[in-house]
Amino acid sequence: MKKNILLCVTGGIACYKAASLTSKLIQSDYSVKVIMTESAMNFVSPLTFQALSRNEVYTDTFIENNPEVIAHIDLADWADLCLVAPATANMIGKLANGLADDMVSTTLLATTAPVWIAPAMNVHMYDHPAVQKNINTLYQFGHRFIEPGEGYLACGYVGKGRLEEPETIAELIHQHFSEPAQPLKGKNVLITAGPTKERIDPVRFLTNHSSGKMGYALAEEAAKMGGNVTLISGPSTLPSPLGVKVIFVESAAQMYDQVLHHFPKADIVIKSAAVADYRPKHVSQQKLKKKDGNLTLELERTKDILLELGKRKKQQFLVGFAAETENIEEHALSKLNRKNADMIIANDITAEGAGFAADTNIVTIFQKKHPPKTLPLLSKSETARKIMEEIIQNMVGES
Ligand code: PMT
Repeated sequence: MKKNILLCVTGGIACYKAASLTSKLIQSDYSVKVIMTESAMNFVSPLTFQALSRNEVYTDTFIENNPEVIAHIDLADWADLCLVAPATANMIGKLANGLADDMVSTTLLATTAPVWIAPAMNVHMYDHPAVQKNINTLYQFGHRFIEPGEGYLACGYVGKGRLEEPETIAELIHQHFSEPAQPLKGKNVLITAGPTKERIDPVRFLTNHSSGKMGYALAEEAAKMGGNVTLISGPSTLPSPLGVKVIFVESAAQMYDQVLHHFPKADIVIKSAAVADYRPKHVSQQKLKKKDGNLTLELERTKDILLELGKRKKQQFLVGFAAETENIEEHALSKLNRKNADMIIANDITAEGAGFAADTNIVTIFQKKHPPKTLPLLSKSETARKIMEEIIQNMVGES
């Protein structure tokens, strides 16, 4: 059955590329309906999109040509995918803040279909903290971004801000609607997630800020790719990812036991859990009573699970994480070598939108034979998908 694409065109010089995109989508047998903002109509006439899409073009929330429906709700329900291309800083700001004062913003507020956003603007506008904050907010709503490319911009600058080419956007849409590839079919994937809790007494414990989001996203993506996924999770309130076997543990010692138990059969192991490095040397069986003066807790080292896996590694592709606050590259490369890992995913947990508990992350992938690869700010799901793709590419490269 034909898929319905709702193309929202907002005002920028890249509107001409949206015309070419409409044509490509129609040729690929999609149904396309177009909404234009008032500014977009300063660049390209609605007639262009009407002729290319062979559908009415919507430009005003208050023009209701069909009395049987309310146009923006009808369009919102009709769409299988909404794409804003080009997306201006203004429209990104409106969508991030729930404003609904034109046909594009009202429709996108009313849709439950996936919303993709392809920004195009001046490089400094794109980098402005206000725009980046709005992009970050939209990631957290689950919207997907098609990153602008780098190159000559209409304003005369060279940099990041060009609308992605229509061929590439059309290809991403084809991939979205095609059967998911199953490159991990038959592979056992072992993933750890979340924090650990180290008990002090029956009411107190040591832990950290990990929510489990990064590890759960990895498990979900690996399962979508056909993997046979076991997730060993520290305490987390997240729902279990679909099709994933989840084993809950509390302490670093319990995580060690479970990981070592499942390790021999694993093909890929990803250690995204934030495991305690120290635990109280003595766990009190009774609640510690407060007394005058200070209390000193004696801590002892927990076992380093990743280090142990590196020693035992045979067929496994071993991926560690590194949560760093400084000298990211130096620490990540040191972990890669010391722990005999195949890949280290480093995140600077002090960067906005990265690390603990956020819905987004910014990671750099370190491998022995390749230069480091930094991914932009992405939702944890997209980060996970890109990490899985990188692992698959490099497993194939090694075999
Ligand atoms: O869960 P979220 O809220 O989504 O946050 C995600 C995250 C920040 C926890 C995640 O992206 C991340 O960085 N995970 C690793 C956190 C960590 O413990 O980093 P580390 O640099 O201290 O440890 C390095 C590696 O050794 C990690 O793969 C860790 O799992 C492993 N390790 C650490 C200690 C230990 N005793 N055994 C281990 O195996």
